[in-house]
Order: sequence, then structure tokens, then C-alpha cells
Amino acid sequence: MAGSVHREPEAEESESLRSDANIAGPMTDPVPGPRTESPGDDVSRETPPLTDGGAGPAGGADPVGAPVGRAAQLAVEALGRAGAGLPRPEQTRIMVVANQKGGVGKTTTTVNLAASLALHGARVLVIDLDPQGNASTALGIDHHAEVPSIYDVLVEGKPLSDVVQPVPDVEGLFCAPATIDLAGAEIELVSLVARESRLQRAIQAYEQPLDYILIDCPPSLGLLTVNALVAGAEVLIPIQCEYYALEGLGQLLRNVELVRGHLNTHLHVSTILLTMYDGRTRLASQVAEEVRSHFGGEVLRTSIPRSVRISEAPSYGQTVLTYDPGSSGALSYLEAAREIALRGAGIHYDVHHGHQGGRPGDPNNQHSMSEGIQ
Ligand SMILES: Nc1ncnc2c1ncn2[C@@H]1O[C@H](COP(=O)(O)OP(=O)(O)O)[C@@H](O)[C@H]1O
Ligand SMILES: [Mg+2]
Repeated sequence: MAGSVHREPEAEESESLRSDANIAGPMTDPVPGPRTESPGDDVSRETPPLTDGGAGPAGGADPVGAPVGRAAQLAVEALGRAGAGLPRPEQTRIMVVANQKGGVGKTTTTVNLAASLALHGARVLVIDLDPQGNASTALGIDHHAEVPSIYDVLVEGKPLSDVVQPVPDVEGLFCAPATIDLAGAEIELVSLVARESRLQRAIQAYEQPLDYILIDCPPSLGLLTVNALVAGAEVLIPIQCEYYALEGLGQLLRNVELVRGHLNTHLHVSTILLTMYDGRTRLASQVAEEVRSHFGGEVLRTSIPRSVRISEAPSYGQTVLTYDPGSSGALSYLEAAREIALRGAGIHYDVHHGHQGGRPGDPNNQHSMSEGIQ
């Protein structure tokens, strides 16, 4: 339990962390070809270089539009991590990004993983299920009160296709935004028919082909999160490498069990991602080790470093993938996306470089998901 973890003095965040990024080498896996065409020869060669220290968003003064997305795409390709090689899931993978704790990196993980998967060539929909609308903001999607939103889908029964918007910078990435109306939905849903399965029905009726749907949950276990758990098959839990990291997880895991038992037999915790990992602190590696010993194989080998670029990107309405494609934060999310895609296809994920998150998940160390967790 986190109680055995001792707090280290807070180390100052610095971009020197970039060297700690847990990045594997070029993709060599024998997997099918890309989902989408790579950018043609018309792509500008003036794309900003892949430096870690770049100041400001990639693409400079052009805050939205193709150049930014292309810079990211080029960065991905330059690193050998583009779609050339990532398997597409046979069916749409619906991943519920949940943890009832706030500030653990749910939204950051949702938008950056989604953008990474899209840059890898997948078609990805982000469903923003948090009334704060942070995922919509980070994707540069307008979500003022009048915008058709996921509230209309859940409460008014509007088709999902009426609210989905393409994300400006990243080809293949879409978002169903949340507006502040959603704050009332927890209450309004209570009296509605099939209140737990309204999102599931909306997704089932959505006919656009998608490889992934990522659902960003609010920091609670109310009806909005239950709707996500009923709609999805996989739960992705971001865990912040901080003191008390595991506290409250037991409640989430019990809810997952309850939903699996009564409403959605497919549901399981497929993925745990360590976020805000600070390689210089003993605390982070202790938390990582603890999480790995509890969860074993579900924990991604890739962990996400604490990175200034990751936290800056949303204020530009961007993911870190377009904001600073060469940064450690961008690279680690690209790598996490790759790991998720390969695992989903049952392909062994090979870590080429040392990783920063403690021991790799040991398949012989599979504990019960809730054992020892409060
Ligand atoms: N890897 C990271 N490095 C630095 N800051 C991060 C990182 N991940 C998240 N953050 C910041 O931490 C805060 C909480 O993250 P967020 O994704 O909004 O959490 P949640 O959705 O779980 O509430 C945000 O300000 C975000 O920018
Ligand atoms: Mg959030």
C-alpha cells in the first residue's frame, strides 16, 4: 500500500527529465501497414527540428490547421514510430479512462494517447465525459454552452454523429465535446430510462468506422462514469506516481466488478499507465514498483514523465504531440500508444531501452486486481 512509501523532498521539475523518457527504438515489429497515407512530398521541409528545448508550439504563429499536425506527423515518422507497422484492432477498442481521483492525468492521457494513436494512423474518437470539458479544450474543440455536446446525446437522445467534431490539427482524430450542461446530467440521468446504458446505445448507433474510442471520465464514480463503464470493454487507469497513488483505487476496482457483474460482462481493467513519473525521486520509483507488484501485467512498461510541455499544451488548445512533437512527453505518449496497440493485437512489446518505471510487469506476479488496495 502507499503507506509504505516515504515522501522524498520535492525535486524541481526540469526539462532534464527528457533524458529519462522511456522511449523504445524504431518499430521493427512485423505488423500490417499504415491505416492512412503518410503526408506526401508537399509537406514543408521547414518543419521545426526535433529539439527538446523548443520554445512554444510547433508550427509557430499558426495555432491551428494542418502545419501543426504535419509537424507532428513528420516528427513521428522521423522517429520511426509512424503508422508503418502498428496493427489496427479488428473491432473498435473502447477504452474508459477512469480514476475517481482528480489530477492524476486522466484528461492528459486521454487526449495525448488519442492523438498518438491517430498519428500512428488510427481513427480515434475522444468522448469528453467531464463537465469541465478539459479534453475538449485540449483538443481545440469549441465547447461553449450552445455547442451540441455529449449532454445532448446522454440526456436528449441526440445521435452521437450530431455532436462529433474533427480535431483541427490531427487527421483521424475526432471529439464529442462536453459543455457545462453536463454538470446537471448526473441528476437528470437518474430519472431517465436505461440511465446506465445511454452512452453505450449512442456508441452502438454510431456508424462511422473507428479504431479506438477513448472516454475521459470525471473525477467521480457517478452515473457519468457508470455510463462509460457500461459502454466500454477496457478500463485504462492512469496512476500518478505520487504519495497515496493507490488510495481509492479499491473503490474504482469494485465498481468495475459491479458493472461487469450486472451490466457489462466484457468490462475489464486492461491498462494501467504511470503518469507524472519523476525519475529523480525515490518516491516515484517506489510508487511504480508498488503499482507493478499489485497489478502486474496490466501496467504499461512505458511510463509518462513529468514534463512542462505536457502541462503547457492545453493552454494552446493542443496536445503535446502537436505542441512540441519532439519533447519527452510527446515521445512517451507515442510509445504508450504503440504499446497499447501491440498488446491489443497480442504482439509482444519489446522495450529497446531501459525504462524508468521500476521493474517491468512480471507475468508471474499477477495479483488479484484489488488485493491489498484500499
Ligand atoms: N506528465 C505530466 N507532466 C506534467 N504535468 C502533467 C502531466 N500529466 C498531467 N499534468 C498536469 O496535471 C494536471 C492534472 O492532469 P489532468 O490530466 O487534468 O488530470 P485529471 O483529468 O485526472 O483530473 C494538469 O494541470 C495537467 O496539465
Ligand atoms: Mg480530467
